[in-house]
Amino acid sequence: MNFDFSEEQIMIQQMAKEFAEAEIAPTAVERDITCEFPGEIIKKMGDLGLMGMMVAPEWNGAGMDTVSYVLAMTEISKVDASVGVIMSVNNSLVCWGLEKYGSDFIKEKYLKDLATGKKLGAFALSEPEAGSDATNQATTADREGDYWVINGIKNWITNGKNADYYIVIAQTDRAKAHKGISAFIVEKGTPGFDQAKKEDKLGIRSSDTCSLTFENCRVPHENMIWEEGKGFNFAMKTLNGGRIGIASQALGIAEASLEASLKYSKQRKSFGTEIINHQAIQFKLADMAVKIEAAKLLILESAALKDANKDYVKEAAMAKLYASKIAVDCALEAIQIHGGYGYVREYLVERYLRDSKITEIYEGTSEIQKIVIARELLRNLN
Ligand code: CAA
Repeated sequence: MNFDFSEEQIMIQQMAKEFAEAEIAPTAVERDITCEFPGEIIKKMGDLGLMGMMVAPEWNGAGMDTVSYVLAMTEISKVDASVGVIMSVNNSLVCWGLEKYGSDFIKEKYLKDLATGKKLGAFALSEPEAGSDATNQATTADREGDYWVINGIKNWITNGKNADYYIVIAQTDRAKAHKGISAFIVEKGTPGFDQAKKEDKLGIRSSDTCSLTFENCRVPHENMIWEEGKGFNFAMKTLNGGRIGIASQALGIAEASLEASLKYSKQRKSFGTEIINHQAIQFKLADMAVKIEAAKLLILESAALKDANKDYVKEAAMAKLYASKIAVDCALEAIQIHGGYGYVREYLVERYLRDSKITEIYEGTSEIQKIVIARELLRNLN
């Protein structure tokens, strides 16, 4: 596999890095404390093409490949993983799925504004009783003429408060189990649709996460994505790509942890020398660097497969499983290297640890990734 980046890919990576350092970094610490949503930052990212990176120009997207998306996601998340997840959900869980499976009506009406960041999207699959067990949907949608009437509750929805358009998964035919699940696009403000209180989270605190409630919420039939009964397959296929985004977010946190550790260990002295001269510290830095490189290769492999229209289900799950694990490992080691300073807000690395943990949970827990990987191994045996 060729990992020589094109000039365009390097340019996008550089642009995302410069934007993150100039526009995101100055408010990242404050927003982590106040939990303020980075609305202005997201608008600027939209102007730069970062909110609909893989969408074709025909639908107002930037028309870039998944590798470019990975590079940009990593740079943004290195500075602020909260902004990273907002970007990831809009790009991979919302725009990608709508472009691939939405009707021209949906693309015209919704995707065009989502791809420019003028509007923000959310992806509502999880429920109080349907997290990992995603087929266990209790939210229902019943047909009434040209409308579907949605009832139920969705949980843990990223961009839940601030989104304009929501992809909502619901059971349209209970008798058919997961083959009776369908996907809809629901606009904020539709009567019967409401957002509940924002969650108070351990990490990624400036992204918003909340529950959604649907009480006889009427949605036109033309807002159905793909076709009736295809909603679960739609969600699974969308999540495969989403996992590349979250793996990139995790990689960004891991890289930030290593960079902070390198910087600190060159400044901090103990036993008469900079701590970087101690083998105990060097071993930690070397282990972090190897893990980061391995995660990067897994992520780029899955992105390159996706760009080549090849099967990437297993590789995306491996990338997410591994990158999320090493993000937590690297953040923990960064704290250890910083000692007491690592445990206080001033030195950033404690945020990296808090932000990293969720990457092992959302868009499929690590345990779910192992199930996906094992099933793919078995499938390829036959
Ligand atoms: N890719 C494509 N299709 C898939 C798939 C995948 N990775 N995994 C399952 N499917 C398909 C199967 O092929 C099957 O389709 P057919 O009926 O057409 O053959 C269908 O989905 C049902 O699959 P299973 O019979 O395997 O269903 P299951 O219940 O045994 O297991 C699961 C499914 C893999 C455990 C699935 O429920 C799953 O991935 N759960 C995790 C859900 C998840 O990732 N949630 C994240 C929430 S979104 C989020 O976090 C966003 C955010 O805000 C940040």
